[in-house]
Amino acid sequence: MTAPHTPTFEDPLWYKDAVIYQVHIKSFFDATNDGVGDFPGLIEKLDYIAALGVNAIWLLPFYPSPRRDDGYDIADYRNVHPEYGTMADVRRFIHEAHKRDIRVITELVINHTSDQHPWFQKARAAKPGSAARDFYVWSDNDKKYDGTRIIFVDTEKSNWTWDETAQAFYWHRFFSHQPDLNFDNPKVLKEVLNIMRFWLDLGVDGLRLDAVPYLIERDGTNNENLSETHDVLKTIRAALDAHAPGRMLLAEANQWPEDAQQYFGQGDECHMSFHFPLMPRMYMAIAQEDRFPITDIMRQTPEIPELCQWAIFLRNHDELTLEMVTDSERDYLWNTYAADRRARINLGIRRRLAPLMERDRRRIELMNGLLLSMPGTPVIYYGDEIGMGDNIHLGDRDGVRTPMQWSPDRNGGFSRANPADLVLPPVMDPLYGFDAVNVEAQAADPHSLLSWMRRMLAVRKRHRAFGRGTQQFLYPGNRKVLAYLRLYPVPDGETETILCVYNLSRTAQAVELDLSAHVGRVPVDLIGGAAFPPIGQLSYLLTLPPFGFFWFILATEAALPPWHIRPSVPMPELATLVVRDGLADVLAPSARHVLESEALPAYLMRRRWFASKDHAIKSARLAQTDKIPGRSFDILLTEIEVAVGARTERYLLPLGISWDGETNAALPQQLALARIRQTRRMGYLTDAFAVDAFPLGLIRALRARTVVPVQDGEIRCLPTSHLDAVELPDNPEIQRLSAEQSNSSLIVGKKIIMKIIRRVMQGVNPEVEMVRHLTAHGYATPRPCWARSPVSAMTAASTA
Ligand code: NOJ
Repeated sequence: MTAPHTPTFEDPLWYKDAVIYQVHIKSFFDATNDGVGDFPGLIEKLDYIAALGVNAIWLLPFYPSPRRDDGYDIADYRNVHPEYGTMADVRRFIHEAHKRDIRVITELVINHTSDQHPWFQKARAAKPGSAARDFYVWSDNDKKYDGTRIIFVDTEKSNWTWDETAQAFYWHRFFSHQPDLNFDNPKVLKEVLNIMRFWLDLGVDGLRLDAVPYLIERDGTNNENLSETHDVLKTIRAALDAHAPGRMLLAEANQWPEDAQQYFGQGDECHMSFHFPLMPRMYMAIAQEDRFPITDIMRQTPEIPELCQWAIFLRNHDELTLEMVTDSERDYLWNTYAADRRARINLGIRRRLAPLMERDRRRIELMNGLLLSMPGTPVIYYGDEIGMGDNIHLGDRDGVRTPMQWSPDRNGGFSRANPADLVLPPVMDPLYGFDAVNVEAQAADPHSLLSWMRRMLAVRKRHRAFGRGTQQFLYPGNRKVLAYLRLYPVPDGETETILCVYNLSRTAQAVELDLSAHVGRVPVDLIGGAAFPPIGQLSYLLTLPPFGFFWFILATEAALPPWHIRPSVPMPELATLVVRDGLADVLAPSARHVLESEALPAYLMRRRWFASKDHAIKSARLAQTDKIPGRSFDILLTEIEVAVGARTERYLLPLGISWDGETNAALPQQLALARIRQTRRMGYLTDAFAVDAFPLGLIRALRARTVVPVQDGEIRCLPTSHLDAVELPDNPEIQRLSAEQSNSSLIVGKKIIMKIIRRVMQGVNPEVEMVRHLTAHGYATPRPCWARSPVSAMTAASTA
């Protein structure tokens, strides 16, 4: 167990413990009320982001741009789009974020520019072969590099576009208005490095490298992941480390694991890389109710250098890309999650998390549980923390970039502008519209998704194993259950071990886990704090509700976390017996039936003094019941007869009523057989041993040598002479040794030990006989004061 961990701002590995919140400036909050979100708006909402529990913000491109690719078509790398604010606003934002211990990650989009960028305007007008022209990739035909796939298949027919001014084709991997920069030209790389330093100097902590697999082109290849591209990245990394150590590079490489992994290099390229193949497989696993897609892709995921880290995500500003799945998997996911064809775009699905999960809170939580516990740094897409919806009727990917829903006010609280002026219409449908889904309402509701997310992020933050630990899958027989351990050796030598178990199915599931390597450890629920039964030699059985999941820390008994809650012994569900006149009414046929058939068998199984717990009880009855009235407390002196196997056993159980409000002691309740109600008065029918009036009454009766007539004879209270010599105060302290021994003993006023011998047998009880004999022969203690004979059941001895 580690102490709660708060990442420090100085830690160079901060990105390993981070949770990143992805924000689109234009859609977050409009402080200037012109209809477009802006930096002043984002600054106003920083406290909201901090309260969510994230510690890094990733901003989508905010640079001057024609915004034909929503800002990924950059026209000026060193400025801010005027609708979003000024450079002074950007500086203020970085400062304010840092003040709240939040890191800032921005975009370094270097694969391409907008065709409006001055470099391109110059290039197309420049002479072929000139330095200016060489900033981009040109060809006099559109057949070159024909082994290259098209990424935006819905809009583009070719990766080449003819330029009238240049009288040549230019190369672009994305939209035709986004010409690719030519990284074979060292001047391009030099410019890129200068742009990077410019933003680092402003205080940016991390840079997402957009579309990095496509930097370099070579004939005869598919122009992805080329070694020359990796060389460019190594140069960028070296320049970053030299200029601003401790900052981070995050690769957007939508590739298979073995290729995405290459973007870490030998720890000399990017610090982080998105795990694109994992993302669709989480959706696949929950749709197929089978863990295999997840375990399979993780087994295919190579080890990464020690200081590197995957970025994992459920959704982002793009379509849910299905490029990294097989064709049949893509069809399956399309049919499951995008039956409405308008939800499909390129090779993906333009929907947000909540609609993908059909607003099923259990599934949304399950997916977030995975996001927060799989190896890597989670990235949360703005709005998903409140379950925002989408609008598949908007163009391109705008449907998942709608304004943040802050309140039920005009424009969802995003802007005071005329709704017609908004950058994008907010979602207004009855299920996901800002009336129904908004921050204001959810922040005030402890059961909202937002409150749940905040709690989960707080829990995650306390355990480094989530961000830094290794992962070890368990493979229980039930494949609907995904289970893994996250293990992190903390500096003091102990390994923080977290067990994550997910039911991927819509029905309740049971699972048996092989936790034999952790025998003796106690699983403590990280979320609620309850301790579960310790792990033993046998497989560990868990049951999970539909789409339920657990995160447990496997604690050693010695190191149980201070916040855990020990399981309480549940109070038995007691039947209520109604009495009109008092104690004797519990012997009326209906009450007696309840006592004998229900209450007694269960009661006996919990008593230490019941010798035959290992056997099934065939029947139990109140064999002898004698009501003995007392000054303030009546007793039903009861012998119980229990049939076990072929024999019967008898036990003494003096019963009495402890009325509610008469005592604060817990014992009468703990030893109760039933609830008692007399009109409005409630109480417990309990073992008289638990009620002080019983031993005090008994001592009084012994001193008075009372004789009580009973059904078939009389009970004589016969003290030995020693009792008279014992002096007690008026209200002697009564101390019970342990309610649960094979007999029940108590000490009265530190002078008398009273022992109820439970098992009733023929003849004189040897213990009574022995003590009496020793006393008679001069042994000092203990000296019996009283005993019941010949059927001996109770004894009292003076300690004096
Ligand atoms: C990747 C970005 O995530 C996407 O939004 C953009 O359209 C492409 N790069 C092209 O810039």
